[in-house]
Amino acid sequence: MADSAGSPVAGDLEWLPSTVHVSHHPAILHKLALLRDQRTDPKKFRELVREISWLVGYEALADARLRQVPVVTPMEQTVGAELADRIGLVPILRAGLGMLDAMLELMPTAQVWHLGLFRDERTLRPVEYYNKLPDSATVDLCLILDPMLATGGSATAAIEVLKRWGAVRIKLVNLIAAPEGVRAVTEAHPDVEIHCAAVDRQLNERGYILPGLGDAGDRQFGTGQGD
Ligand code: PRP
Ligand code: URA
Repeated sequence: MADSAGSPVAGDLEWLPSTVHVSHHPAILHKLALLRDQRTDPKKFRELVREISWLVGYEALADARLRQVPVVTPMEQTVGAELADRIGLVPILRAGLGMLDAMLELMPTAQVWHLGLFRDERTLRPVEYYNKLPDSATVDLCLILDPMLATGGSATAAIEVLKRWGAVRIKLVNLIAAPEGVRAVTEAHPDVEIHCAAVDRQLNERGYILPGLGDAGDRQFGTGQGD
């Protein structure tokens, strides 16, 4: 059974395709409850986004390719490893920005390609407003960073942009996903793996995730009070 606070117990998420990875780590679940809490202020919220991103991102990078390199320790020569994949981090503006620092700590040599997408509140369709990708792909593995996967419209649009760019290996790194968004992305792009901290119950009539955490951009940046 999964409780509404998003601590899934094995069994509930059996319908998920094998390309969807939901972390059950206690450290993530503890931080996730704080992130959801409406009393959490923007400063603490940003810290939690960063901390959970680090933990989920660590898992998402587990199959990055390596090559062997010689290393001389003070004791002797040995063989070490260095990253062979060129990693591209693609934060979706705005809310994905909060995940970027953690991912750059994990992968300091990664390229960062920002994509600006916002969801039209009426149609719930994504609107692209920023894209400075060069003509052809410059990375081997792209990680799309966005805390929320709701209808899946924004993620699908981002994946399509990256595929047109020439990206071959793409992963989606989210904090909270809705079943609707997971289905939309996995049906349209079964090759794209999804890493997240929770798959929640459902969307409401305005396309917000339940129980969710509200608007991830507004909660990070202290905006939205005028809505
Ligand atoms: C949020 C979120 C995703 C999108 C998810 O962004 O960060 O990008 O909604 O919804 P979807 O799966 O239904 O497309 P939003 O459009 O609110 O923009 P913001 O980050 O600028 O607040
Ligand atoms: N975007 C958000 O920030 N939150 C949701 O619940 C859905 C989309």
